Amino acid sequence: MDKIIIDGNRPLKGKVKISGAKNAALPILAATLLTHGKMELHNIPQLADIKTMVALLKGMGLKISSWANKMKVQSNGYAGTTAPYELVKTMRASILVLGPLLAMRGKAKVSLPGGCAIGARPIDLHLKGLEAMGAKIKVEHGYVEAEARKLKGAKIYFDQVSVTGTENLLMAATQAHGTTLLENAAREPEIIDLANMLVACGAKISGAGTSLIQIEGPTPLTGCKWSVMPDRIEAGTFMIAACLPKSQIMVQGIHPEDLEALIVKLEECGAKIEISSEGIQVKAPKKIKSRDINTAPFPGFATDLQAQFMALMTVAEGSSLIRENIFENRFMHVGELVRMGADIKVEGNSAIVRGLKQLSGAPIMATDLRASACLVIAGLAAEGITEISRVYHIDRGYEKIEKKFRKLGAKIKRVKVKY
Ligand code: EPZ
Repeated sequence: MDKIIIDGNRPLKGKVKISGAKNAALPILAATLLTHGKMELHNIPQLADIKTMVALLKGMGLKISSWANKMKVQSNGYAGTTAPYELVKTMRASILVLGPLLAMRGKAKVSLPGGCAIGARPIDLHLKGLEAMGAKIKVEHGYVEAEARKLKGAKIYFDQVSVTGTENLLMAATQAHGTTLLENAAREPEIIDLANMLVACGAKISGAGTSLIQIEGPTPLTGCKWSVMPDRIEAGTFMIAACLPKSQIMVQGIHPEDLEALIVKLEECGAKIEISSEGIQVKAPKKIKSRDINTAPFPGFATDLQAQFMALMTVAEGSSLIRENIFENRFMHVGELVRMGADIKVEGNSAIVRGLKQLSGAPIMATDLRASACLVIAGLAAEGITEISRVYHIDRGYEKIEKKFRKLGAKIKRVKVKY
């Protein structure tokens, strides 16, 4: 298991090129199960989760060749329908193969993803939607087993906004007979990217990015060439780091409309933000002002940026109230920040952060993907040496993060740890 070691309290200056979005690439890869012919995908980030999805798809009969950030995908004739526990337990997003498998092969056996550090992560909305489309679903021995001779269009209302729930049903609906309406659908930019790629393959989808998506089916989908959108969460992570004292970072190749809530919040904290065709430039304020956040589905403040924003608030002026409204246990980073001297009190789904002049470097442990990014930002802010263990969490969602920060002037390195 590797460690990341940071000698903090240095300004970050320069430009960073944002990688392709993990949470767009994963559903887009799953969607290749729906297509006939060759898919060519570009701007695919080289991440552990992508490797897991590729292994899953190869096990289902897709031939996948990749080089750098490109991939070619086509069927090799075998039509496996099982997503095994060994792979699914390492990546919850494996559930995204359920809709496409069922739609194309009439059956699917997918291991229940199980919970993770941030919450129980149920999939009841995915299953309810597929049943509404005519699927027979049973859950036993830790697997979801679904069968459907023919999916039919349905009107589906999401009791709770669900990103992968919307994606799973959107993909299945392209092969359902008739019209499917997804109401209270998630509006995340990654859903628009998935829908646009499916339309490029011949799907009939309207309303992606709004809370009402309409899909006509069944439509045979050809292959296409698609470049995955840039990762707004990686970009937001660097924009938050750019607010550390005396820092200025140009975050290149990102769509500002994907980060509106964060841009507004960082400007309230005193950052100077300039948007240009090159990307978003963030200049740190002399003093970071404390501000409150409430996480919410897009276009609200992204839950995937909550931990990173909390790291910034630990060295801001004043107090910040951070409410996590999406996941029930997404404050695992608090204990580690407190080890660095942060003043944080957690009550239920709220955390009160009293800003300090300085954090102090310490040995800390990553607990989940976005918590790891929070700890990197805290290490960059802290006086002295911070050692972050269990960095395999960060490798699931950030491509070469220490290289990107080193290029911005950080004293950061990754070391291999034997035990
Ligand atoms: C996606 O997870 C993202 N993952 C998450 O990013 C992100 O945090 C989350 O959306 C919210 O934006 C991918 O896209 C691969 P949800 P997802 O279904 O789809 C409840 C990261 O760091 N719910 O939108 O699993 C659920 O418990 C990851 O990259 C149900 O109750 O999240 C949660 O409280 C972490 N029943 C809320 O809805 C369901 O069937 C939102 O979950 C589904 C969800």
